[in-house]
Amino acid sequence: MEVIKVRGGNYLEGKVKIGGAKNSAVALIPAAILANGKVTIDGIPQISDIKALKVILEEIGCGVKVNNDEIVIDSTDLENVPLVSDNVKKLRASYYFMGAMLSRYKKVTMGFPGGCYLGPRPIDLHIKGFEALGAEVNVENGVYEITAEELTGAEIFLDFASVGATINIMLAAVTAKGKTLIENAAKEPEIIDVATLLNNMGARIRGAGTSVIRIEGVDELKECYHQVIPDRIEAGTYIIAAALAGKKVAVENVIPHHLEALISKLKDAGVVLDVLDDSVIVYGGNKLKGVDIKTQVFPGFPTDLQQPITTLLTQSEGTSIVEESIYSDRLRHCGHLSNMGADIRTFDNTSIITGPKSLNGQIVEATDLRSGASLILAGLIADGVTEVRNIGHVLRGYEKVIQKFTDLGADIWIDTQE
Ligand code: EPZ
Repeated sequence: MEVIKVRGGNYLEGKVKIGGAKNSAVALIPAAILANGKVTIDGIPQISDIKALKVILEEIGCGVKVNNDEIVIDSTDLENVPLVSDNVKKLRASYYFMGAMLSRYKKVTMGFPGGCYLGPRPIDLHIKGFEALGAEVNVENGVYEITAEELTGAEIFLDFASVGATINIMLAAVTAKGKTLIENAAKEPEIIDVATLLNNMGARIRGAGTSVIRIEGVDELKECYHQVIPDRIEAGTYIIAAALAGKKVAVENVIPHHLEALISKLKDAGVVLDVLDDSVIVYGGNKLKGVDIKTQVFPGFPTDLQQPITTLLTQSEGTSIVEESIYSDRLRHCGHLSNMGADIRTFDNTSIITGPKSLNGQIVEATDLRSGASLILAGLIADGVTEVRNIGHVLRGYEKVIQKFTDLGADIWIDTQE
């Protein structure tokens, strides 16, 4: 079993380059099969989710070449085979193959997607969208059979501004006959990134990034080149780490507009930072004060940074109230932070954090990708060594995480245990 160990007490200093957005890349890669030919995507993060998607692409007959952060996907020999392998279960985003295969073949057979446990994660809104476009959806023994005589544009209102449903419906609608309207669409930057790729392939999508997306179906999509946007959640994680344990850290390859909610909240807490065109300079060592946070859809405070910022709030003066409004079970890191000495109480979907409280290194467990990040951040400032288990979650979403933190001066390593 591999664990991540962190010996606390080192200050972070220097610069860290942010990679491509995981939550973009895991949608761009399935979207690429819509082009009958080669699609080149540059700036792909080097994480295990990408490896899993590469295997799925090969299972359905695509030619795939990965060279560092560039992936070339050739779907000339794509076959509409059932997507029921274990790889489909490795990540939730495998469900984007539903929209893509439906768009290309009007038929897809797919097992339930996997991914982090954050509470129930239904895909009812994805299914509602496919049905509105004319598809019939049957579920049997954990396998979805989705078929359509024809896909026809429709008006679709999303009960919740779901990121996944917005993208999946876009993928199915780009070749549907006529016009599709997605209302109460998610506005996350990753939606815009996927729409940009699809439009570069010849799709006609307008309004991505707003709550109303208009799509005019086209007959076919062609080869193209695309550059992934930077990962705003990876960037936010390192900005928080620098505020917590930094002297002075430059977080580079950032789109500041994607981080406005975090930057505003950190300034309220007393963090000193300079926001430049494509980087954020963070000055650590300041006295921080508690702040209240409620996670929201974009442009509100992102749920994916709720866990990392909780670690910072354990060191902030006073009481902070953090309400997780997107997921029903995304506070499990609080128990582990408490074991390290933090003063955190949780009620329903809210955590109440009182600080500052010094932390001690303990054996803790990553329950999902971002809780793993929050525990690594805690290890940076804890007395002694913190051992983070279940690190597969972390390696799924943070590229070169040991190297990047080591280059910043952290004492962090992967230990292999029997
Ligand atoms: C994406 O998940 C991200 N994952 C998540 O990041 C992120 O937390 C989430 O968006 C919110 O920003 C990827 O992009 C791969 P949603 P997604 O559909 O698409 C409910 C990370 O750490 N819902 O916006 O699954 C759902 O249960 C991951 O990088 C329905 O009820 O998020 C949840 O409570 C974690 N029915 C809420 O909406 C549906 O059909 C948000 O889900 C779909 C969603």
